[in-house]
Order: sequence, then structure tokens, then C-alpha cells
Amino acid sequence: MDNKFPSNASLWLSNGDQGLVQVLDQRVLPFETRIFEISTLEQACYAIREMVVRGAPLIGVTAAYGMYLAALNSDGPDREITMLQAEIALNATRPTAVNLFRMTGRMAAVYKQNKGKEDVVSDLLLEANRIRNEEIEACRLIGEYGLPLIREIGSRKKGQPVQILTHCNAGWLACVEWGTATAPIYLAHRMGIPIHVWVDETRPRNQGARLTAYELGLVGVPHTIIPDNAGGHLMQKGMVDMVITGSDRTTRNGDVANKIGTYLKAVAASDNGIPFYVALPSSTFDLDLVNGLDSIPVEERDASEVSFAEGWNGESISSVRIIPEKSPVANYGFDITPARLVTMLITEKGLCKPEEVSIVALINTKNE
Ligand code: MRU
Repeated sequence: MDNKFPSNASLWLSNGDQGLVQVLDQRVLPFETRIFEISTLEQACYAIREMVVRGAPLIGVTAAYGMYLAALNSDGPDREITMLQAEIALNATRPTAVNLFRMTGRMAAVYKQNKGKEDVVSDLLLEANRIRNEEIEACRLIGEYGLPLIREIGSRKKGQPVQILTHCNAGWLACVEWGTATAPIYLAHRMGIPIHVWVDETRPRNQGARLTAYELGLVGVPHTIIPDNAGGHLMQKGMVDMVITGSDRTTRNGDVANKIGTYLKAVAASDNGIPFYVALPSSTFDLDLVNGLDSIPVEERDASEVSFAEGWNGESISSVRIIPEKSPVANYGFDITPARLVTMLITEKGLCKPEEVSIVALINTKNE
């Protein structure tokens, strides 16, 4: 492996090899730091399906490079059919994060426009790089727009840390850099605003306990991992000032699909008068859908994620069964938080009320 591991980036193009995309293998963090290499469409599909990469923006970016690699590895009349198959294969990897479909669609459109040209593959690489850079910039701006929300609470707390609860991993591991929910957190920490993050463990795959805690620990953001069921108690006791989560798909009326358990936190936040913010780039809006509960496809995942728990045994990652062998399991990956429970959306174009008029106006706003 000839490549440096750039800190705080989840995906990069190999130095010196334009046919090789490298990603951090999120299946083994925080116990091992392993790079997974993607040089074919099949490897891109595998990486998304098996959750080597995960998180809505990163799924979209990986899919974009998957489309580029499909073109790079094909030629002549075969390329046309390969590109059609690539879009279908990538779109079948995971159902909920809309970024996947948006980015394969963008890549397919660039292919269609330029397929007669000799340098169509370069055009596809440019588009994949553009998508990556756009997502990084969107996250950075989400940080800028979210920071005043933390600062405002901080100014009332007279030096006491702002207590922020987050669910799953909506950090740079789920995006490319910065993260969505974590971007304002990182900025606040950098600016010296005292903060403390309650990290939901986020069963069954523990993206909070494993990935968010890893990220926050790398840069010294004070945090505490809590069992998923603890959030309501902490809110009742006045120990949470705000909640910030990410999103996998947000409808035109502001309903938010995010990792299973998000809805329960929103209900508890509402009951306790605590602001509940959702941070997302424009690529996560799905303006074709209105009512999230009826229309957003919720992924159902393998039962083994619930019946087994995975961790470090001192020497390697291992997995143990934690339920009776014959008990049936249900494993829904996401839930829908209705717009009425969301205080505000934090996007790269600014803050936005979770309602149709504001969302449509926001999406139609040109980037400055
Ligand atoms: O199943 P995952 O790990 O892909 O789910 C990820 C989430 O639910 C994140 O909160 C969401 O994608 C927002 S990422 C910035």
C-alpha cells in the first residue's frame, strides 16, 4: 500500500493511481485502522453493501467513484451496457440514504452527455471529484451555520459545557470530512466553547460507541458514551441542552429518516423542551417524497447484527451471541422523525424550518 492515510478523511483517491480509491474500513474501527481498496465497480458495491463505508454522504461519494471505475474498466460498445448495469448494481446496495441514488444519477447524466467523447472517463472522474469536494464544503458550511446555535446556548451557561446529544455516527466517517452533526461540534471545540457530547451507543452496530467516540477522541472533544435508552433520563434531569443528528433522507415537508432510535430521542427532546436539530447537506433532501413514514424505504438488516455483539477480546475482533439461539429478531435500520419534532434543519445553505415552503426555497437558493 503506497498511500498515506490522510487524517480525518474517510475516502481519497490514491496518490499516483487514478484507478484506485481508498477508504477507511469502518467495519474494524476503532480497534484496527485498515485501508480498503476500491478499483472496480464490484468492490464499490461490496464496500457500500457490507458497510465498509456507511453514512449517507459517504455512500453517495463512493457510488460516484464506483460509476467512474465502471467506465474506466470498460471499453467500446461494452461501456454503454456496463454503465447501465453499474447504476442498477450500485442503487441496489442500500435503500434508505437518498445520496446514493442522487449521485449515481448525476454520474449517469454526465456519461450520457459525454459518451461520444474520447475523454468521457476523465469527465466522470472530474464529476466524482466534484461530488466529493461539494460534500466536504457542504459539511464545512453546516459547521458554520450550526456554530451560533451552540454558541448561543454556551453564552447562557456561564462557562459550563454545552451538553449535546448525538445519535449514530454523522461525523467525517459518515461523510468525507467534517461530518454533518459533528461539524458544528468540531468548530465549537476549536473556538474554545466548552462542550460535552453524549454519544448514543446506537445498537445494533454501535456506530456511536465505535465511530463517533473514536472521532471525538481523536481531537479531544469531551464525550461520554451512553446506552441508547439513557437519553430520555438525561433529558429529564436537565443534562442535555440540545440534540444534533444527521439524516439519510429528508422529505420535502421535513420528515427525517435517520438511524433507528432517532425518533425516540426526538420524542423525548420534545417532551422536555430541548431543541432537536438535524444537520444535512442538500444532497440528502428528497423533494419527490412528501410523507416520510409512508414513502421512505426503511432498510431491514440481517438478524445477526442483533443476535451477536462484536468487540475487541484483547487480541482481535470477535463476536458472541447475546440472545437465545431460537428467538426471532427484527432489525430495522432506520426510523422516521416527523417534521413537527424537528426544531430546525442545519444545511450548507443556512438554517431551515422543517416545512415544505422553506425547504423548497432553500433548495432553489443558489450557492454563493
Ligand atoms: O447505517 P448507517 O451507518 O449508514 O447509518 C448512518 C446514519 O444513520 C447517519 O446518521 C446518517 O447517514 C447521517 S450521516 C452524516
